[in-house]
Amino acid sequence: MTDFAILRAPSEVLFGAGMAAAAGRVAASHGHRVLVITDPVIASTPGFATVTDSLSALEVTIFSDAVVDVPRSAVDAAVALGESVKPDVIVAVGGGSVIDLAKVTALLLAHGGPLENYYAVQSVPGPVVPLIALPTTAGTGSEATPVSVITDPATEMKIGVASPHLIPRHAICDPLLTIGAPPIVTAHSGIDALSHAVEAYMAAREEPTVDLVLGRPQVGKNLLSDTLALTAAGHIARNLARAVEDGSDLEARTGMLYGSLLAGIAFGNSGVSAAHALQFAVGAATHTSHGLGTGLLLPYVMEFNRPARTAEIAELSALMGGDAIEQVHALGLQIGLPASLAEIGVDQGDLRPMAEASVGIKRLIDNNPRPLDVDALEAILDAAWHGDPERLRAVGLATA
Ligand SMILES: [Fe+2]
Repeated sequence: MTDFAILRAPSEVLFGAGMAAAAGRVAASHGHRVLVITDPVIASTPGFATVTDSLSALEVTIFSDAVVDVPRSAVDAAVALGESVKPDVIVAVGGGSVIDLAKVTALLLAHGGPLENYYAVQSVPGPVVPLIALPTTAGTGSEATPVSVITDPATEMKIGVASPHLIPRHAICDPLLTIGAPPIVTAHSGIDALSHAVEAYMAAREEPTVDLVLGRPQVGKNLLSDTLALTAAGHIARNLARAVEDGSDLEARTGMLYGSLLAGIAFGNSGVSAAHALQFAVGAATHTSHGLGTGLLLPYVMEFNRPARTAEIAELSALMGGDAIEQVHALGLQIGLPASLAEIGVDQGDLRPMAEASVGIKRLIDNNPRPLDVDALEAILDAAWHGDPERLRAVGLATA
């Protein structure tokens, strides 16, 4: 296998406590008219005030009606406001849903709708309105990725719009903005960041060709995504329980935000796989958060993939001070994740239809290091439904 490396990332990353105050000067480098996108909770926080104070010399319009899971109504409202403002730059302050809304708003303002035109990979024709992303959770890594996950109004399923043009031009990562996130948000978004790091590190790997690297925003495991993912996993594993326990622990918040940023850059280039594919179905059926689902499923997916990724599991285990799969499983329970899919109300009879719905998400399924079919996905779901360690170990023996 030929070594190769790909790095598509924000042009500028400013990371550290206090960096939110840089937003104004960074925005001014793009022009005078600014559209700020946030949600009603973030809009009332001191961190948000730091950002808007820094923008005071510019012409600022604030859209504060972002909604979790990015429904079409929020996209339409943000785009309508954007059409009246004609912003030179968009500033997104919030979690993954806010930044994902800002990405599709920047896309639709630059190239017009409807959004369905951009569902296919590499269908965004050129640069979008410049975006400055300031994450308020350590989780999605959306400040650094080419992906925007929205809810398709026709199917109510999540769908990813992916293009290198959607990578925010600037990522301003200030851990002070994450201090106010409540423990459950810290837990779910943080374990999602760990899922990004682990799924990037264990992703499929293809023989590199020019068609591969230019044909897709996410190209599978490579040297740079490996380096970033492994470093990210270490930061997250060391800091997640601390950040959930004491949200004011700035050192833990800093480690988490750094880990989620690196995990975002890693999977932004490599892609993620089965835990994310299965979460789309679990989330749609149970209305549980994205991170709850990916975090709960992650150890089962790792175990299924263990035979194909023994070296990677060994590296992760060395980093985590014990078998990586047991460590990830234990960390999930420690931060309060439910122990099984049964516990969040999934019927055992729903597992097969969930596996059938997930197998069609080709971008994620094809990126898994072991081939996946409906039976294999059902075996992973079944082990996670029971939630006991014995079945967890057995899922590695399932065949696809
Ligand atoms: Fe995720």
